Amino acid sequence: MAILTIRTEGDPILRKTARPVEAVTPKIRQLLDDMLETMYDDMGVGIAGPQVGKLRRLITVDVGEGPYRMVNPEILWASEETQLDVEGCLSVPHFNGAVVRPQKVRVRYWDENQETKEVEAEGLFARCLCHEIDHLDGVLFRDRVEMEIDLEHPTDEQLAYMASHGLLPKEEEEVEELERIAETLQGDAEASESDEAH
Ligand code: NI
Repeated sequence: MAILTIRTEGDPILRKTARPVEAVTPKIRQLLDDMLETMYDDMGVGIAGPQVGKLRRLITVDVGEGPYRMVNPEILWASEETQLDVEGCLSVPHFNGAVVRPQKVRVRYWDENQETKEVEAEGLFARCLCHEIDHLDGVLFRDRVEMEIDLEHPTDEQLAYMASHGLLPKEEEEVEELERIAETLQGDAEASESDEAH
């Protein structure tokens, strides 16, 4: 296995259409393994051929349910129901933005043994598949961004957008919830103290 160099925005290969793979050879299998290793090394959840300089219809994805190696992936169906969330991309460093994607997709692909498989994906998995398959057609998530979100230092406008779209970081929601619980407990303690006093 090997870590491959990730191409970044501005590299023309990211804007080209990747060619279908005709047969899953040992070389293709090796490339899929290298893509996975490169993806994990960079803390990514998905990577596509053009991002490592290979203009082939190959993606790897792992959103926590184990690795998928997909050859010639194709979206057969996408739900009308959509989801909105903040995305990033290994090829577009230091940029994040909110993107609308289908809530569910069904994707057909060849696995690493050239067996035809279909998967129905939902939520983050569906989002990731759409993002990676976009890469095979020269589309970057930046093209689809509704609102840039600076995750480190969001502007007031970005915070307002996040709040109104339910995109505030989970930690913050958890902190608020903990504060609410703490207030309730304090209130109860004060109430029982006053009960005793009377
Ligand atoms: Ni990407």
